Amino acid sequence: MPETNLLLVDDLRENLVALEALVRGSGRRVFSARGGEEALSLMLEHPFALAIVDVQMPSMDGFELAELMRGTERTRHIPIVFVTAAGRELNYAFRGYETGAVDFLYKPLDPVAVRSKVDVFVDLYRQRQELLRMQEQLERAVKMRDDFLSMVSHELRNPLNALYLQAQLRQRMAAKGQPPDLAAFQKMVSRDEHQIRSMIRLLDDLLDISRARTGRLAMSPSEMDLALAARRAVEAVHDQARTAGVQISVEAPAAMGFVGDEFRLEQVVLNLLTNALRYGRGQPVAVRLRTEGREALLSVRDQGPGVPAAEQERIFQQFERGSTGGQVAGLGLGLFISRQIVEAHGGRLELRSDPGDGAEFTLRLPLPAAGA
Ligand SMILES: Nc1ncnc2c1ncn2[C@@H]1O[C@H](COP(=O)(O)OP(=O)(O)OP(=O)(O)O)[C@@H](O)[C@H]1O
Ligand SMILES: [Mg+2]
Repeated sequence: MPETNLLLVDDLRENLVALEALVRGSGRRVFSARGGEEALSLMLEHPFALAIVDVQMPSMDGFELAELMRGTERTRHIPIVFVTAAGRELNYAFRGYETGAVDFLYKPLDPVAVRSKVDVFVDLYRQRQELLRMQEQLERAVKMRDDFLSMVSHELRNPLNALYLQAQLRQRMAAKGQPPDLAAFQKMVSRDEHQIRSMIRLLDDLLDISRARTGRLAMSPSEMDLALAARRAVEAVHDQARTAGVQISVEAPAAMGFVGDEFRLEQVVLNLLTNALRYGRGQPVAVRLRTEGREALLSVRDQGPGVPAAEQERIFQQFERGSTGGQVAGLGLGLFISRQIVEAHGGRLELRSDPGDGAEFTLRLPLPAAGA
C-alpha cells in the first residue's frame, strides 16, 4: 500500500507544527504549506487524500484557494477541511466548492475531533484507491482474455483454412476425373496431418491451461532418463531448426536416471526449444544437462535478444507475452505450463538473461536420494 499524503496549509508555522503532530500516522506523509501558492504547487506534484486549510491567511484565504483548486482537474477532487476561528454560521458563506467533499474544524482545535475527521477521509481515500486498483486489474484481465480469444481463433483458423483449401482442391480434381498420383497424394496427406497436429497441440495446450489453473495437471511419474528426454525434444524440433538454419548443440551425459513424467518433461524442453527457435533470432541454441549437488540442471540457452528484467517474472504467467513476442504468433502459455510441470516435480524453472546476451532457461530438478 503506497503512502497516503496529507496537506496542511496555514500561514503560521506554530499552527502547522501543532497540526502535523495531530494528524501524523503510519502510512501517512504530511506536507505543509505556508500559503495558497505553495499549497497549489505541492498539489500539482503529489496526490493528496486531504487538504486541511486555514481559512484566514494573508495573501490568499482558504476559500480563494479552494476556488483555484476547483479550476484544475488534478486538484478538483481533493477533499478540503477548513480550519476556522469563526462561528459555524460562516459555513454557508462558502458555496463555491460543491464538487469536492468539504468539512470544517473549529478553533481551538479539539485533538480528538481532528484525528477522527482525518481518519475518515484517509479511510475513504484508501478505499477509493483500492477500488481503482481492482478496476485496473479487472480491465487488464478482460483485455487479456479478449487478446487470448482472438489469438486462439487466429491459430485455429490458419490450419483450418489450409485444410479447407485442400478439400476444395481435391473436389475439383474429382469433378474433373483427375485424381492425384500416389506421390502427390502422399504429400497432401502429410500436409493434412501437419495441420491437424498443430490444432491438436493447440487444443492440448488449452486443456492443460484449464487443468493447471485448477491445479490438476496430472503427472504419471516413472523411472526415466533425463538425457534421453532432452535428446528426444531436440529430435522433435530437428526439422524446424534445419529450416530456420539454427544449430542446436547438446551437451549431456549418456544417461541420467530420474523419476518423473517423461512425456511432460520432454514437453517442457520442447517448449523451451520452440521459444529459443522463435525468439532467438536464428542464432545457435545450446542444450545442456548436468548435475549440481543433488539437483539435475537442464538448460536451454539461446543468443537472441533475451528478456528484459522487467518482464522476467511476468512471462511465466498465463497468456503473458513479452516484448520479443511481437512479430511471432503465440498464446503465452508455454512457460506457464512448463513451470507448473517442473514444480509438480518438486523443481524450479528459472530464467537468467542479460538483455542483448540471449536467454537461458534452466530446469532444476531434485534428484532422487541415492539408493531410494
Ligand atoms: N528464449 C527467449 N528469448 C526471448 N524471449 C522469450 C524467450 N522465451 C520466451 N520469451 C518471451 O516470453 C513470452 C512468453 O513465452 P511463452 O512460451 O510462455 O509463450 P509464447 O511463446 O508467446 O506462446 P506459446 O503459448 O505458443 O508458447 C514470449 O512471448 C516471449 O516474449
Ligand atoms: Mg512459447
